[in-house]
Amino acid sequence: MSGTILLTGGAGYIGSHTYVALKRAGYEVVILDNFANARDDVPDRLEVITGAPVTLHRADVLDKAAVAEVFRAHKIDAVVHFAAKKAVGESQKIPLEYIETNCTGLVNLLMAMRDAGVFKIVFSSSATVYAETEDWPIPESAPLGYASTYALTKLMGEQIITQAAGSDDRWRHGILRYFNPAGAHDSALIGEDPQDIPNNLMPYIAKVAVGELPELNIFGNDYPTPDGTGVRDYIHVMDLAEGHVKSLDALMAGGDSHIVNLGTGKGYSVMDMLASYSRACGRDLPYKVTPRRAGDLACYYGDPSKARALLGWEVARDLDDMCQTSWNWISRRSNMRAG
Ligand code: UD1
Repeated sequence: MSGTILLTGGAGYIGSHTYVALKRAGYEVVILDNFANARDDVPDRLEVITGAPVTLHRADVLDKAAVAEVFRAHKIDAVVHFAAKKAVGESQKIPLEYIETNCTGLVNLLMAMRDAGVFKIVFSSSATVYAETEDWPIPESAPLGYASTYALTKLMGEQIITQAAGSDDRWRHGILRYFNPAGAHDSALIGEDPQDIPNNLMPYIAKVAVGELPELNIFGNDYPTPDGTGVRDYIHVMDLAEGHVKSLDALMAGGDSHIVNLGTGKGYSVMDMLASYSRACGRDLPYKVTPRRAGDLACYYGDPSKARALLGWEVARDLDDMCQTSWNWISRRSNMRAG
């Protein structure tokens, strides 16, 4: 496919991997990122991976003039929108900032798109928009709800887009609800790189593996799951990135708007993750069992059959690929910083 794509949040974890996948698929890409949660050297690394210069606008989606300027400077054909705040716990402490960035930022972007005559958007949503359920795997038709401000902003984001679409039939959207992203690009040049102590399992294990944290705290081993620890649908970040390309390809080819899950349809426990990561890094990683984390569910995994049928998208990588690529990235990054 050809066309010029505005990729907001393109220096972030999923955004940078999606940049690589979009370039490989033949798209021109313009990144807009404020680097609030991305390292400054990511664009250089993307240039090494893709062998081509990166076009970057260092700006915030809340800056309406800067967003409009991107559409004046480039002939954009479609937008893939990642730029957002994403920490669940933090969203409970500063809800207004989350609503501002995730919802007002999206509105600014949609207005700039409309004013520039650009009507195709792929939106980074989350499986967190589903109401609590014990009915797995979760299909797209499952009831929606939210248990955090972060989740609310993703749900609102979906609704803002569908409301806009209802007003003008030129709009086409791909809303992608993803499960738990993990792993890194094969080059080990980009990956998840949290600046603080991570809340999520994979980056936490990665920091234990490189010795930046002493041990993993397993939040409960008395859940009604095969080994008692929480089960989630971990998906390789490159599979996720390729899902964005498939969604965009469908819109660029004149396809209809869609809302799909991007998950594997399989659940893995915390112990499965720890075992796979221990194999990847070559030593048994230390852990202790602590009480359950408030708000956690025993089990959560998606039904990816709609994405397969509609977009021809399927995952190509397994749990060991996620842990191995995560380890390759984090150990290289850690050695580089140390030396
Ligand atoms: C969390 C968010 C969810 C968000 C998702 C983004 C909560 C309650 N939920 O989901 O809204 O969409 O991240 O990826 O924050 N675990 C440990 N020790 C740790 C960290 C996690 O045992 O140090 C366990 C958890 O109990 C859970 C599993 O690992 O069973 C995965 O946890 P996590 O990576 O935080 O993801 P979710 O809880 O699925």
